[in-house]
Amino acid sequence: MDKLLITGGSPLQGEVRISGSKNAALPILASTLLTETPTLIKNVPHLRDVTTMVGLLGHMGVEVTIDDRLNVQVDTSSIHSYSAPYDLVKTMRASVLVLGPLLARFGHADVSLPGGCAIGSRPVNLHIQGLRQMGAEINVENGYIHARAKRLQGTVLYLDLVTVTGTENLMMAAALAEGTTVLENAAKEPEVVDLAHCLNSMGAKIQGAGTDTIEIQGVEHLHGTEYVVLPDRIETGTYLVAAAMTGGQVRVKQADPASLDAVLAKLRETGAQIQIGADWIELNMAGRRPTAVDIYTAPHPAFPTDMQAQFCALNAVAQGTGTVTETVFENRFMHIQELQRLGADIRLEGNTAICTGVEQLFGAPVMATDLRASASLVLAALVAKGDTLVDRIYHLDRGYECMEEKLMQLGCEVRRVP
Ligand code: UD1
Repeated sequence: MDKLLITGGSPLQGEVRISGSKNAALPILASTLLTETPTLIKNVPHLRDVTTMVGLLGHMGVEVTIDDRLNVQVDTSSIHSYSAPYDLVKTMRASVLVLGPLLARFGHADVSLPGGCAIGSRPVNLHIQGLRQMGAEINVENGYIHARAKRLQGTVLYLDLVTVTGTENLMMAAALAEGTTVLENAAKEPEVVDLAHCLNSMGAKIQGAGTDTIEIQGVEHLHGTEYVVLPDRIETGTYLVAAAMTGGQVRVKQADPASLDAVLAKLRETGAQIQIGADWIELNMAGRRPTAVDIYTAPHPAFPTDMQAQFCALNAVAQGTGTVTETVFENRFMHIQELQRLGADIRLEGNTAICTGVEQLFGAPVMATDLRASASLVLAALVAKGDTLVDRIYHLDRGYECMEEKLMQLGCEVRRVP
């Protein structure tokens, strides 16, 4: 299993290109199941989760070709299976995104239940409930969601909780349903908006994505399209935090500044100088130590839970004390104990981490537990004195494209070791 060996102490300097968004690419790849002619998706990031989704489509008989510029061509005409087996779903929960499209287009889906997760229980009850309300017959048996439907029927769906993939699954299902579906209390994440744009370019009739009410007028057929995935806001935020923690200066290119308001506001509070262009952000910390900030995670447009761990790492070396409150997931603080191994002064009280910045962290072997937790360990290692060995970086490979190469390009000492 690969590890990252990081020698701390070099401030980030330079420019880095941001990859396509993982959380937009995954539902967009799933949405190709709705189309009757081939689709070309561009700016797809080269990540383990994307490989898993491509593997899942391949398992169903869908033809997927990827060129060397990571343009993904999907042709569903040879599909022969409507199932997502446990072996694939257990490695990536987002596999459940095939449920809505399969059911809407083929009236048939057998999708494994995702099971447990390092950051909380993460049920998919709202996905199932919404599809049932649209007329699907769903049995959950032997660890599988068995769903059948003639044609799904549009209706008004009120989501008890704001769920990102739940909104996406139901929006995709509703695109081919009979009549109009209204999703109330929908997720407003930029990735939901990107998926809606992609579906509309396939011929869907969706309005209101990005607000909490999405209206989907069902159509009978969707056609292939050519679509460019939006830039990854979490990858963008992670490099900006890395620059702020190391007192560096970085320009992120091919980014989407509009999707990062809450994160940029917090980075300004740390004392960073930030300049923004149409598709770039430049952060300059000018060698200063950041000031600790208070964070409260919540659905978009509030502060994203996927940036919580990175800000814990920042607070760990900042001046003063900052509190980080996690409200989206029940158990998303596994990184705290690992940060403590590097010398961080962080105390957990319920769903709040109270972080008092220390002058210096010290390198140590640490273990990644989930995707964003891994990122926080890498960031902490960049400022720690000496060497840090980050184990289980397959988590990192799920969501960060070529992270060690990008960090090396920015002047950091990072090496992948077997
Ligand atoms: C997505 C993102 C993930 C991000 C999260 C929150 C993808 C592929 N992943 O995950 O990176 O951290 O949004 O922004 O886009 N819930 C239920 N029942 C449901 C569905 C959700 O109780 O049927 C709960 C979850 O347990 C959680 C909360 O709702 O507490 C939000 O989860 P959700 O938005 O669904 O997260 P994901 O879509 O899985």
